Amino acid sequence: MSTLRAGAVREFRAVSSSSEGKIGLPPHEWAAAEPLNQRNHQRPPKLPFVNATQYAVGILREVMCGLHLMARSKILDDRKCFLVQVEQLSTRRPAVSVDELLAGFVPSPRFGDVSFGSYRPDPSQPSQSEAVTLLQDFAKSSAKKQAGGGLRKLFGGKAKAKANSTGRAGIYLDGGFGVGKTHLLSSLWHEVEGPKAIGTFVEYTNLVGALSFRKTVEALSSYKLVCIDEFELDDPGDTVLMSRLMRELADAGVRLAATSNTLPGSLGDGRFAAVDFKREIQVLADQFEILHIDGEDFRHRGLPTPPEPVANSDLDARMRRDFAGSTVAVDDFSVLVDHLAGVHPSRYRQMLSDIDAAVWRNVHTITEQSVALRFVVLADRLYDKDVPILASGVPLDQLFTPEMMTGGYQKKYFRAVSRLTALAREAQEIGDRQPVG
Ligand SMILES: Nc1ncnc2c1ncn2[C@@H]1O[C@H](COP(=O)(O)OP(=O)(O)O)[C@@H](O)[C@H]1O
Ligand SMILES: [Mg+2]
Repeated sequence: MSTLRAGAVREFRAVSSSSEGKIGLPPHEWAAAEPLNQRNHQRPPKLPFVNATQYAVGILREVMCGLHLMARSKILDDRKCFLVQVEQLSTRRPAVSVDELLAGFVPSPRFGDVSFGSYRPDPSQPSQSEAVTLLQDFAKSSAKKQAGGGLRKLFGGKAKAKANSTGRAGIYLDGGFGVGKTHLLSSLWHEVEGPKAIGTFVEYTNLVGALSFRKTVEALSSYKLVCIDEFELDDPGDTVLMSRLMRELADAGVRLAATSNTLPGSLGDGRFAAVDFKREIQVLADQFEILHIDGEDFRHRGLPTPPEPVANSDLDARMRRDFAGSTVAVDDFSVLVDHLAGVHPSRYRQMLSDIDAAVWRNVHTITEQSVALRFVVLADRLYDKDVPILASGVPLDQLFTPEMMTGGYQKKYFRAVSRLTALAREAQEIGDRQPVG
């Protein structure tokens, strides 16, 4: 990401230096020497073209001039922070249409091109290869979608419904962090031809919040496949809402696939999570094939230690060095946290559009549950987009209070810390790759 953008900035430099004759002068001095509204920002007058050569020269000149203007404006925009485009999440309030919301229900960039083929089952964990076979069968049978009345048909005519390979309206993958549930769910999504949606449980509840229940059902009823990642059972209201949504969709003949995490700290609870799921979606339970995927976190990390926070005095220099050429969202942590209260969580994805990296000044422990839960959604969207995070203040594993980390929403907080830590590590690795000196 930053390599590409750094390349683009180098290009700006080359164009500017040749057209301005400023070879040898550092770019920030060009900007300082020639403020925004000087003569160089106006295009040269057009010349009448006399022959083909002159015509070609004229075109070339126009192109060079366009490139030059782009380069100039980029450099001048960057005056405050050399080579880094600075934005603030806390000033962004994106408006999002229904179509844009639905268009967001695709695999996150991290899972943009995964497949069953790229999933490498652990030979010592038979449930992993079983999951692949089961999902491949499910994908095949989803291609032959039953025409309407899914639940009615399934309840009233089980023999008929079971004629296909899995005979189920839904499939549910349960297992610990990092065993590849999202990888498999995304692979299923890629395999089945659309219309189809994939998103997290929270994204679907946000969709219902933004559209209304009825409109969400209407919008998704014509889909062939709806995938719900990270089904959460810790909020009774949301669970009932999602169960209703799934029931209506199944009734309309939509195939469903869901996943849910089991905390590594509660090994052995895996079966309970599956039982909870069954109980909560009782009406659908018989129609869900439930599969528990055993195994270690593929990334070989549980809740890893986050990198040391950066000192406030180093933050700016680190940002300029490590994120050169990128668009970086720089926010005071407390201002960002307050800002989230005024933006619907379904819009956090758009809030991050064009952002390559994030810098947070003075991270502090969030003490209020509602604030913390909003922050979890932001953490998910940052992780989806693979945005490295550089932060000062408290380490990211102190983002939530000990009560939160052990309370009813602990899964969410655990996930958020794990994800933010991975993103902070990414920023650290980018820093480690920078040349010394
Ligand atoms: N068996 C596997 N083969 C290849 N990649 C895997 C495997 N399991 C997990 N991964 C990769 O490890 C990372 C974490 O997996 P993920 O699907 O997010 O796990 P989960 O959803 O179960 O927490 C992803 O980048 C995923 O592609
Ligand atoms: Mg997952």
